[in-house]
Parts: sequence; C-alpha cells; structure tokens
Amino acid sequence: MISKWGINTDIIHSELKPDEKSRAVSPAIVPAVAYAFPTVESAIEVVSGECEGNYYGRYGNPTTRVLEEKMSKLEGGEDAIAVSSGMAAISISLLNYLKAGDHVVVTKDVYGGTHHFLTVLAPRFGIEVDFVDCTDLNAVENALKFNTKVLYLETPSNPCLTILDLKKLTNLAHSYKVPVIVDNTFMTPILQSPIELGVDVVVHSGTKYINGHGDVIAGFVIGKKKDISFMRKNLMGDLGQNLNAWESYLILRGLKTMGIRLKQHVENAKKVSEFLNGHRGISKVFYPGLPSHRQHSLAKQQMKGYGGIISFELKGGFETGVEFINHLKLAMISFSLGDPETLVQHPASMTHNSIPTEQRVEFGITDGLIRLSVGLEDANDIIDDLDQALTKASTIRLTKYKLNAK
Ligand SMILES: Cc1ncc(COP(=O)(O)O)c(C=O)c1O
Repeated sequence: MISKWGINTDIIHSELKPDEKSRAVSPAIVPAVAYAFPTVESAIEVVSGECEGNYYGRYGNPTTRVLEEKMSKLEGGEDAIAVSSGMAAISISLLNYLKAGDHVVVTKDVYGGTHHFLTVLAPRFGIEVDFVDCTDLNAVENALKFNTKVLYLETPSNPCLTILDLKKLTNLAHSYKVPVIVDNTFMTPILQSPIELGVDVVVHSGTKYINGHGDVIAGFVIGKKKDISFMRKNLMGDLGQNLNAWESYLILRGLKTMGIRLKQHVENAKKVSEFLNGHRGISKVFYPGLPSHRQHSLAKQQMKGYGGIISFELKGGFETGVEFINHLKLAMISFSLGDPETLVQHPASMTHNSIPTEQRVEFGITDGLIRLSVGLEDANDIIDDLDQALTKASTIRLTKYKLNAK
C-alpha cells in the first residue's frame, strides 16, 4: 500500500485510531482470548475468513492487529502477522513455501538461529538446504534446482555485514519462479524497503530496533495477503506462535520513537566505524557506510542509511578479542542488538556458536571477529570506552609477544 506520508509520520500516525468511546490516543490492550458472536452464522463468517474479526487468541488479537497493520504499511506489504519471535517469523515464512522433498537456497553468512533451524530441524522434515555466496549471482543460479521453492536472504548479514543486491537476486529468482524472503532486521523499514525492490516476503526480529528497548521478543512477517492468511491460520495459529496483546502494546510504544532512534544509531555508528577504521590495533572493519567496505556503492544505492551494527577483527585474533571485550566498561557483553545500550559480542563463541567451525570460517565468521551494536549514548563516550579497552588488549598482546620472543 502506497502512503502519502513520509515514513516518520507513518510510524506515528498510520493505523492510529483513537478509541471511539474514550478518545484515548494510545491503543487499548485487549487481553481477551475468546470473542462472543451474536449468531452461529456470524461466528462461521469470521472463522472461515469471509469477514475480518477475532475468534480465538491464538489466531489474532485486536491490539496485535493494530501493530500488524502498521508493520504492513511501513514495509509496503499487503498484510502482516506479528509473532512470538524473530525465529518464529523466519520458520513460519520458510514453512509457508517448503514441504518434504523441497530445496531452499540460503545466503551463507546468515543469522546463527536461521542456520540452526535449517540444518537441524528442516532436514528432519525432508527439506534440503544449500548455503550459497549470494554476492555471486552465477553461484545462486547454479544452486537453483528443479525443487528449489524459495531463496532466503539477509542483508546486511549478521555478523559480517555483507550486502546482497536485492533487485538482481529477486529478478534472477523470479525468472525461475522462485519466491524470495529477506530478513530486514538490521535495517528496519526505515533504512531498506525490500518489497519495493520486488522481494515477496520480509521478516523481522521485532526484538531489535523495532521494539528498541530490549524488553520484548517478537517477530514479523510481511507479504501478500494470500501468503499471510495461510501463515496466520496454518503456521502461526496451529503452531501457537502468536504475539500477545501486552507485548504488542509495548512494541507499538517503542515504535513511535524508531525514527529518531535509528537516526542516532546511524550517526553514532558512522563516528565509531571511522574511529575503528583508523585504529592500529584493528586489522579489518566491516561497516557498509565506510568507503572501504567492498560493497559500499551497492549499500549506498540500496539502503537509506547504513545501520547501527559494526563488525571488526582485532590484530591478535581470538585472545586479544577476549581481552578487549573483557576490558570494556560502558559497552555490555550481550547476545542481542538494536537496544539503547551499546552491546558487544563474539559471534564465533556466542550467536554463531552452533555453526560447525569449518563452515563458520568459510562464511567469514572468524575467531577474531567482534560484533558491536552501537547504542544511543554520546558517541564520544562509546569511542573512549573502545579506545581504553583496545589499548589494554594491545598492551597485553605485545607483552605476551615479547615474552614469547625471548
Ligand atoms: C538478523 C536476525 N534475524 C533474526 C533473529 C532472531 O530474532 P529473535 O531473537 O527475535 O528470535 C536475530 C537475532 O539476533 C537476528 O540478528
């Protein structure tokens, strides 16, 4: 659906319907599981989907519906479902297209949970998966098979910040009648619009920037009405992956400030990436906003901002990385991202630890890689913290080096 408003106005005003009786501006929290119908016929109309409405909490909720309509509008989809986690959104969207005997092509440096689901659970149901370097269109085309039913992408990727060309990949997949799913978590609807570029389904971990306060786990799937209706009824509803009213309300609340939060995350990440890029203790910095990023020009063309996540490798590898992280005072060691606090983690041992070492290294997730989710603090304070921890880690590395050299 095309909106006449800018995205920041849409974030606040779309689907904002003051309560008819009280005129309350914030949406009502409706915890009801059951809904009463005046007649059996009216109940049948709702349960069959002939009429929009709620009939049982596992298949939909009025507070959650406000959030779903908002997310659908923001991503430019026909409809959306709000679910209990980003992983619920990912598994639901994949299972919408896949059944026993089908094949899925997946970008190689994908979120660890997605990799785990596709390598551990999906094969038990007869689903075949290939992880492919999706920066290489020939490799993607070669990986497509007669039974490929979906192409699954993540851009920028977690944790290597690889950028994929959504337009070209979608055109290629569509020429083989293969639909495309994109995980847009790192970007939010503010910084990247995959559906505008032709993508069929967008998924999000709402746990990150969308809620933005580190206190709700949630996910979203946005796409065509027909697909979303199938997912609501047969996957979200039957597998019990719905989002409850209270958490929907918290996200609606968090969402109101997503525009200004993202602006600050991006501004801070730019300053922090420039600091890291010039630091002598660091061998590589991955941030799409840096001209040195190998896909900077694609990022510039495809994204409306470069996001708040930076990855980097320290000279001295894993051991120096651990010393660095352990000496941080402001940044917190955490598995999540997109929160007001600056969060740091070591993908090889934390978020991507379930990927076998050989495959992890092939995907570019080296032992020395560190992921930083740049928070909303004053940029100078974040940089000072990184600087002091880098100095301590480098001193320890050099002392050990000198001792070994003796
Ligand atoms: C890119 C990406 N997608 C999906 C997820 C899964 O989200 P959730 O933890 O809400 O299930 C994460 C979690 O970190 C993520 O980083």
